[in-house]
Amino acid sequence: MMTTLRAETPLKTLYKDAFHIGAAVNTRTIESQKSLLAYHFNSITAENEMKFSSVHPQEELYTFEDADVIAAFAREQGMALRGHTLVWHNQTPDWLFENDKGGLAERDVLLARLQSHIQTVVGRYKDVIYCWDVVNEVISDDANDESAFLRPSKWLDIAGEDFIAKAFEFAHEADPQALLFYNDYNESNPHKRERIYRLVRSLLDQGVPIHGVGLQAHWNLFDPSLDQMRAAIERYAQLGVQLQLTELDVSMFRFEDRRTDLVQPTQDMLELQAERYESIFRLLHEYSEHISAVTFWGAADDYTWLDHFPVRGRKNWPFLFDEAQRPKEAYQRVAQIAAPK
Ligand code: GLA
Repeated sequence: MMTTLRAETPLKTLYKDAFHIGAAVNTRTIESQKSLLAYHFNSITAENEMKFSSVHPQEELYTFEDADVIAAFAREQGMALRGHTLVWHNQTPDWLFENDKGGLAERDVLLARLQSHIQTVVGRYKDVIYCWDVVNEVISDDANDESAFLRPSKWLDIAGEDFIAKAFEFAHEADPQALLFYNDYNESNPHKRERIYRLVRSLLDQGVPIHGVGLQAHWNLFDPSLDQMRAAIERYAQLGVQLQLTELDVSMFRFEDRRTDLVQPTQDMLELQAERYESIFRLLHEYSEHISAVTFWGAADDYTWLDHFPVRGRKNWPFLFDEAQRPKEAYQRVAQIAAPK
């Protein structure tokens, strides 16, 4: 574990009247980033450990070891814990969608399996998880095809659209106290934003228990624009539900950028990133009445899922803390915004 003597003010203190400050963690980073997490963050999300494949790889087998370690860490540290995620098209095992002949399972079977999964998983962490990403990424990114509203998936093939409403109902049954979220990426893209809005609006109109929209916020130095972020926050706020940034990072590279030559970020990149974080947190602070948590998809640049993704062999530096877990210029700017005048 890295023990840095810290003089800077904790982010969670600076933003205590605005929103929770969260980080995605795994069983390694709760050790390697322990002091950083405990000092700056008051909320965590399991990066992979609570996903369907991680906890329920076979119909008769639940594997909660890693998820339990993360839940115990949250309890010990007195941190809020977000549950992530119950329904997704990735990291979900094949058995869920199959019958015993290897064909597609019946609709009723799939929904019964989902209900039982949700009862077990949500029920297990009721004491410590206060909100769940119930449904993740079901909206299509295809802007050219108006009929492609939902992403093609086995969920959709087998159960039709209403697997979404059912998942929320099952989660609400399993833990009536938990706040239930719809979570997606490219959430600030105007086209996708309207589709997400339409989905959540229709769930609310049907009386489905849904309490929040998660904006994943996998952003970079250039995209999306601040105007697009603002428009997205305003639009989702019209739904009257709470908003959270659930997976924030600010990549140094445009999505299309394939460069692999950098071993360190340049000074220009660090400055641009600091400016970008400053304007992002100014915006979030302005809308803090609607925003209940801002969770980074990691904590410091020593570990990020963006290392080697989407470009192999390339490191990235998307956070407020550097590879030695020291505050970057971006931290200073974010701290200034919330500091009492
Ligand atoms: C999506 C998921 C996350 C994570 C990231 C990539 O955003 O919601 O759980 O898998 O992709 O790390």
